[in-house]
Amino acid sequence: MELGLSGRTALVCGASKGIGKGIARALAREGVNVALLARGREGLDEAARQIREETGVSVVTVSADITQAESVAAAAQALRAEPGFSTLNILINNAGAPVTRNDRQVLWNDDEWRELIEVKTLGALRVIREFLPMMARDGTGRVINITGSSGIAVWRPAMLHGLNNSALIHTTGYLAQDLWNERITVNAIVPGLVGTEFREEWADGLAKQQGKTREQFLADFCRERGIFMERWAEVDEVADLALFIASDRARYINGAKLNIDGGFSVNAR
Ligand SMILES: NC(=O)c1ccc[n+]([C@@H]2O[C@H](COP(=O)([O-])OP(=O)(O)OC[C@H]3O[C@@H](n4cnc5c(N)ncnc54)[C@H](OP(=O)(O)O)[C@@H]3O)[C@@H](O)[C@H]2O)c1
Repeated sequence: MELGLSGRTALVCGASKGIGKGIARALAREGVNVALLARGREGLDEAARQIREETGVSVVTVSADITQAESVAAAAQALRAEPGFSTLNILINNAGAPVTRNDRQVLWNDDEWRELIEVKTLGALRVIREFLPMMARDGTGRVINITGSSGIAVWRPAMLHGLNNSALIHTTGYLAQDLWNERITVNAIVPGLVGTEFREEWADGLAKQQGKTREQFLADFCRERGIFMERWAEVDEVADLALFIASDRARYINGAKLNIDGGFSVNAR
């Protein structure tokens, strides 16, 4: 399918690893010039090197902490100064922190709650606010928010992650209406479990603890959670969905919440 993305520009937040890196690579393979944003300079440089070598498109990096308004504003200013990046067609909001603790989040203190909300909910809003002036107003503008299944149903222990994801799902609908004045579409991708580097380590650790192979552990975990396909999504499968939404082929899709969760949302309703 011809997606018609070649020559466009994208900013991918949280692009140094995991889903964001996968989406950036998929866009670059389609000829999109990509800007990668994350905090860690080393991870950004390595991701940029790999994507540049593989695809030959223009890849630039912006080191920024999206919990800090000044940092995001400075990132927008820096990107605008990069040759070929003064206009953005595609903005991927993906930065977020994975669940690293299993204790009850309702008992966390204010600072621990705030830390997560600052990244995913307020961070995404800051990025939209600061980069909006650079977005194309010709109907090619796309904001794609990577949310998560914990925003539509209980996913233990991810209470705060769920709060963030549901906030971003709501904001997607709100902004679809608001930004259409500027001919920009806004959609949410709602993944279940995705096989990122972090998830691979997580699954291997738990599989070992339970005396299982990674495949056995995942099949059991998914069955217990209601993911009836009994596996996680590959990063490339999520990236393919982002590619389609970013393209002209998806021009009539606006305000959508697109589940990619191996069937989890069927059980979640
Ligand atoms: N993996 C899953 O199973 C899954 C499932 C559903 C939804 N999701 C969602 O998908 C998104 C990506 O998840 P992932 O698993 O790919 O995560 P990941 O592998 O941990 O990558 C997170 C990315 O975000 C960046 N980041 C984190 N905090 C940041 C900050 N304050 N400012 C700027 N960049 C920041 C990280 O780089 P630095 O640390 O260098 O900043 C990294 O590039 C998240 O929003 C997550 O909630 C993931």
